[in-house]
Amino acid sequence: MTRGSDEQMEQSAKPLKSRRSPGGRLLTLGLLGTIAMLVLAACSPNDFKPYSTISPASETADDVQSLYILVFWLALIVFVGVQFAIVYIALRYRRTSPARQRPPQVHGNKRLEIVWTVIPAVVLLIILIPTITTLYDHDAAAQNGDIEIDVFGKQWWWEVHYGEDTGQGGDDLGIITANEIHIPVDKNIVLNLRSNNVIHSFWVPRLSGKMDIMPGQVNKLSITANEPGIYYGECAEFCGAQHAWMRFTVIVHPEDEFYAWVNAQRAGNPGTIDQEADLPEGVTRAPQAFSLCLSCHTVNGITPYTTTGLDAQSNFGPDLTNLACRDTIAAGMLINNRVNLEAWIDDPGSIKPGNYMSEQILPGMMREALSEEEFTLLIDYLMSLQPEGGCVGAESAESVAPGATPVASPVAETEEED
Ligand code: CUA
Repeated sequence: MTRGSDEQMEQSAKPLKSRRSPGGRLLTLGLLGTIAMLVLAACSPNDFKPYSTISPASETADDVQSLYILVFWLALIVFVGVQFAIVYIALRYRRTSPARQRPPQVHGNKRLEIVWTVIPAVVLLIILIPTITTLYDHDAAAQNGDIEIDVFGKQWWWEVHYGEDTGQGGDDLGIITANEIHIPVDKNIVLNLRSNNVIHSFWVPRLSGKMDIMPGQVNKLSITANEPGIYYGECAEFCGAQHAWMRFTVIVHPEDEFYAWVNAQRAGNPGTIDQEADLPEGVTRAPQAFSLCLSCHTVNGITPYTTTGLDAQSNFGPDLTNLACRDTIAAGMLINNRVNLEAWIDDPGSIKPGNYMSEQILPGMMREALSEEEFTLLIDYLMSLQPEGGCVGAESAESVAPGATPVASPVAETEEED
């Protein structure tokens, strides 16, 4: 019976010889595949891709990349093997003439089943072992950093503490900043991720994998950056209306430049809003209007760095020390320039609806409270907030602020037309 079918198959396969053989077709497919891979390989890894997950620039990201490469090649081998087998079997054993009968039907093949159980198990084991090892390595690295930084996920911005006296951890560098995390190169930085509101997710694709930020819990993430530069990060967990505009940068400095930045932040911005006070030479006087801002913001030199941290009842807004050195405002939304600063302070709700500042500053409120001159003075003052010798590291790393609006359009005016 079996022999009969085999003979029939051979006979019916004969007329095929004149047509292209399965081997020839496989060759064509193989060539097409090679061309496709060469085209993909032409995408240069050196092109600037701020949110690329496959351009690692830290030890953590390197480890993740190694796992990715391992999984990629194993998956590619499996994919190519399976596809070739499907194509080969489909061509080799296809029905070639109506006269041909069905081949014998088999049920169960112990050897085959053992083989296709063992192969995937081995593949998964090859992936599992380095994955688990990497997880433990990262966990160990996050236990003891050269510098510890507390990062608080807010709605919708980031507060960054370089140590404080509240027992919340971190090295006591006495600095608080917002939406920018400055770190030295080649040092193991441990980030203590905290939230007192909703769940966020900390993600700087070129420096680390994602790490969720959960209320009531401290999640630790270790980063050792390999190259000075600016790395772009964002919140990767939906956390409310402005989740998409919860961006930040990690600025990696050479070590001496990092400590120059620390000193500049510690020195803060000189000034007082006490209009009666006698000021020493070189000390700026903040405009009276700035006292409005100080109910929610701090500027080192005028008000001491104040912990907002987990205490949502104290200061609400980002620390503004050396504000003029930041590339963006509103957590990556607007390029930090005069026009945008004016638009933002005038009506933050039209730019980033739902943000906390828009509940305090309603449309038109600032213009009513301040004269044109006072408003200009306030903007002048905010734009002057930078260290005496200029912003640290401004030349060594130029920001491109991907996605940020260069010039905010006057939304309020277009609304009036309705
Ligand atoms: Cu925070 Cu999304």
